[in-house]
Amino acid sequence: TDVGSRRRLARPLSVIAHRGASMEVPEHTLAAYRRAIEEGADGLECDVRLTADGHLVCVHDRRVNRTSNGRGAVSALELADLAALDFGSWKNRHADPFESPDRDTDKDTGDPERTSVLTLERLLQLVADAPRPVELAIETKHPTRWADQVETRLLELLDRYRLPTPVRIMSFSPRSLQRVRAAAPEIPTVYLMQLLLPRHRDGRLPPGVRVAGPSVRILRAHPEYVARAHRAGNQVHVWTVDEPEDVELCVRLGVDAIITNRPQQVLSQLS
Ligand code: G3P
Ligand code: CA
Repeated sequence: TDVGSRRRLARPLSVIAHRGASMEVPEHTLAAYRRAIEEGADGLECDVRLTADGHLVCVHDRRVNRTSNGRGAVSALELADLAALDFGSWKNRHADPFESPDRDTDKDTGDPERTSVLTLERLLQLVADAPRPVELAIETKHPTRWADQVETRLLELLDRYRLPTPVRIMSFSPRSLQRVRAAAPEIPTVYLMQLLLPRHRDGRLPPGVRVAGPSVRILRAHPEYVARAHRAGNQVHVWTVDEPEDVELCVRLGVDAIITNRPQQVLSQLS
């Protein structure tokens, strides 16, 4: 299965922008993804959730409280409710230029691409229109409460757009990945891991999954994991790798992809 564009890259590993170039630009906004593409990221990561009226939107938290000026669960709000919120200004409000020199201090929060909720559909269009191939790693968030609606809607959209670039579906939920494999076995799936459970220490993954998605903490504690996963025939895509020493660790261990909030810095470290 083609789980990435590794062979076509000049670099030995893919650099995937986590929620876009989210250290600098409000996460999960169109502007954050545009920035990541401009910076040369090989791919984009996003989280998806269903709204009350069945649209997939790119929002990480269950509620909109942290990343917008609204309140409430995404699942309780309709797309029109989300469209009325500001998903960008929080970043400038909380920015402390002394503590976070990487944060973008532009005050152009009137730019809708920096402040509007992003639908998955709009993100797929951005990738379709990109001037070069851009990988997409889509994470299903807490899909169990929706039965299979998240995966069904996601696969419908992917089928409609048929992007010419690699698309992967990631989840912490083996059940969500299993639903994807049952409906679309051609789409590579990534099993995200916060902890390395004893049953995965030998590098094996749930049936049919060919990419491990360990946190970088797992790699710090279990550096031998990468070689084991490779021996088991699986790739390793690591999150969230922002510190130069973690980038170095990933390179030394030979991971296949790095998921980072600061693609530009990681790319310049690798060049
Ligand atoms: O890319 C995987 C990573 O995003 C998983 O953690 O909480 O940032 O979605 P989280
Ligand atoms: Ca995620």
